[in-house]
Amino acid sequence: MNAPDTFLAQTAAAKPATGTSHYHESARAQVAGAATYIDDIPEVKGTLHAAPILSNVAHGMLKGIDASEALKMEGVRGVFTSRDVPGDKFLATFVHDEPIFAVDKVEFIGQVVGVVVADTVMQARRAARKVKLDVDPLPAILDPREAARERSFVLPPVTVRRGDPEQGIAGARHRLQGSLDVGGQEHFYLEGQVGYVLPLEQDQWWVYSSTQHPGEIQHWVSHALGLPNSAVTVECRRMGGGFGGKETQSGHIAVWAAVAANRLRRPVKLRLDRDDDFMITGKRHPFAYDYEVGFDDDGLICGLKLVLSTNCGFSADLSGPVADRAVFHADNAYFLGDVEIVSYRCKTNTQSHTAFRGFGGPQGMIVIEAIMGDIARELGLDPLDVRKRNLYGIEERNVTHYEMKVEDNILAPLVSRLEETSSYRERRERIARWNARSPVIKRGIALTPVKFGISFTATFFNQAGALVHVYTDGSVQVNHGGTEMGQGLNTKVAQIVADELGVPFDAVRVTAADTSKVPNASATAASSGTDLNGRAAQFAARQVRERLAAFVAERNHCEASQVIFAHGQVSTPTTHIAWEQLVDDAYKSRVQLWSDGFYKTPKIHYDKHTLTGRPFYYFAYGAACTEVAIDTLTGENRVLKVDILHDVGHSINPAIDIGQIEGGFIQGMGWLTTEQLVWNDKGHLATHAPSTYKIPATGDVPEHFRIELWPEANREDNVGGSKAVGEPPFMLAISVWEALRDAACAARGGHAVRMDAPATAENVLRAVKA
Ligand code: MTE
Ligand code: HPA
Ligand code: MOS
Repeated sequence: MNAPDTFLAQTAAAKPATGTSHYHESARAQVAGAATYIDDIPEVKGTLHAAPILSNVAHGMLKGIDASEALKMEGVRGVFTSRDVPGDKFLATFVHDEPIFAVDKVEFIGQVVGVVVADTVMQARRAARKVKLDVDPLPAILDPREAARERSFVLPPVTVRRGDPEQGIAGARHRLQGSLDVGGQEHFYLEGQVGYVLPLEQDQWWVYSSTQHPGEIQHWVSHALGLPNSAVTVECRRMGGGFGGKETQSGHIAVWAAVAANRLRRPVKLRLDRDDDFMITGKRHPFAYDYEVGFDDDGLICGLKLVLSTNCGFSADLSGPVADRAVFHADNAYFLGDVEIVSYRCKTNTQSHTAFRGFGGPQGMIVIEAIMGDIARELGLDPLDVRKRNLYGIEERNVTHYEMKVEDNILAPLVSRLEETSSYRERRERIARWNARSPVIKRGIALTPVKFGISFTATFFNQAGALVHVYTDGSVQVNHGGTEMGQGLNTKVAQIVADELGVPFDAVRVTAADTSKVPNASATAASSGTDLNGRAAQFAARQVRERLAAFVAERNHCEASQVIFAHGQVSTPTTHIAWEQLVDDAYKSRVQLWSDGFYKTPKIHYDKHTLTGRPFYYFAYGAACTEVAIDTLTGENRVLKVDILHDVGHSINPAIDIGQIEGGFIQGMGWLTTEQLVWNDKGHLATHAPSTYKIPATGDVPEHFRIELWPEANREDNVGGSKAVGEPPFMLAISVWEALRDAACAARGGHAVRMDAPATAENVLRAVKA
């Protein structure tokens, strides 16, 4: 689609591209149905379709697979299992504990034992249901606390300790003990998991995958097929949402399709049915918490002992770094002087839980926010006062429990500003008056902060590459290692490159993620897509610009530093030339018009055994004030008003950033209110479709939903002075859960409440009636 010339001219004359709310590069194509997702790609002649065969037992010995009935069905071309894997039968994960297809045991209901391949999708799916498994059941562990007791772990426990928490607790004026359970979350990306694998000549492979990590798909497919990485190319133009659920999980789908495609020497596509997607793929990790805290009369914490039992499911997947990030965020915004945090990475017979927006951060933060609320209610103080009292300091009380100094702390002014702009104090009084008069409907309010560490917890992932190609007509293509999942990464990268070259946004096109262009790229995750790839692309563009500047300087007898690139023009103190003309001249003078760029995040390091060091380049901050109402007879509840103040540094694209804040908040609200995953006592996930698993609907968006951006630039040298925005706002939704607890507490005459998450109507009612 070409924008009209007048539009191009307007953009060219306008401000720089960054800092403006340029529309998403795919917005028009997406609303027109013209944006291509994997299942829209025209199928190559001879394409076959695969469907997975699922275990229906949570734990047991797999003694046999009877596919005879399926093989007789119309259109069926074959059934493939572990025996058909030519390379390593285990996925190329960190821990190497996950079989591609179950080998001689099954470990959860939904584990994939093999695939059926047929001429059509429906033939394959129908046949997959006819495959019979012979399984000798074994006892299953479904609960993380039980797993911790049995020492059933996917990875060894980790303890972080500072000072003397026992002494701190024993010597404190007040003490509390508590426990809490917080549920997981299904990603519910609109586009389900899908992979399409095509054999090329001479044992090379082309893979289309809806994935946040094309490089990992390439690695996994080549590993399974017993081929070098270089034999496999993976492409992803965009995802219909990933949210962490396509950081590793998309690899399984691609590998299953590749194993079948390899046996049949035909292109094979595998698109999971939504129910199968629920049953097979990992979710946000559910957590169980036990804590003991000591505090003074003002609510200041004197000592804390915290146990985090992470439900990892049957294999390690990303659970190590997720559990680490939970430990790193168990302080949220608060200084914990004397503290011990024990993290159990529990192995249970469920789906292998995985990355999900926040990556353990939300699960770390929610418990300290629960503790803040508990302390306040114990002392009869306003929870906001207890929170403010415990915030990190500037000159002192400024080192985290993992020994990182918090250098960019804006918590106190940010929280105070939101307290004012949301009229928190007046509303608290108004709510108290309302609650005094209203016997059934009770209201609640909470203002909670967020401090979220930006960088991959696995330090080596914090690197990125990009390619910038300038063609002879002056148009520009950018390719970088990141992936587009709706978050606007490609839009921001195009803005950055446009400004670096001084050309209009529309002159820059970002192409599909492709492992044959930028190799070994990290997952697009940890919110650092723009920080990493935006910088790499900026460096690539800068090299092209510098070559052009040298060329112009030589021609016009000036210094390269005097050559200005802006508004599609290249100027020296005495000359002007249109960008297109300059590019053409430069090409004819054999100036290299393309370049690569590489970026690695500075300053970060940490010891993964003691979890100490500086894992994060900087922190992103925010705060949310949420007001809710509950019906004390039914437990039904609504979010009435939300005010957010969030820090994105100097925004590269305010509209996209505000969209990320809104989307993240609502997704977090879903996690903590209606989205309940229920496994029955056999380990069967009973909520495996939208009929029983409730994500927020448009009607759940609060009518009053105000978002303000913090005005200051990132204090660290990050691209354009910006800060990462993808995940941090998710955790602002903890204010919803705390506001619901506040309302439940009002219903109980001010008494403290235990309320597990999600705060479904049942859980709210239980809290009110406890
Ligand atoms: N926004 C949309 N629309 N779709 C998504 O899948 N994923 C989130 C966040 N925002 C996601 C999203 C997650 S989990 C992360 S880590 C970041 O986007 C990744 O992109 P970024 O690093 O470019 O912000
Ligand atoms: N976030 C997301 N994905 C990751 C991380 C992280 O911190 N570390 C490794 N993979
Ligand atoms: Mo996001 S959970 O880091 O993909």
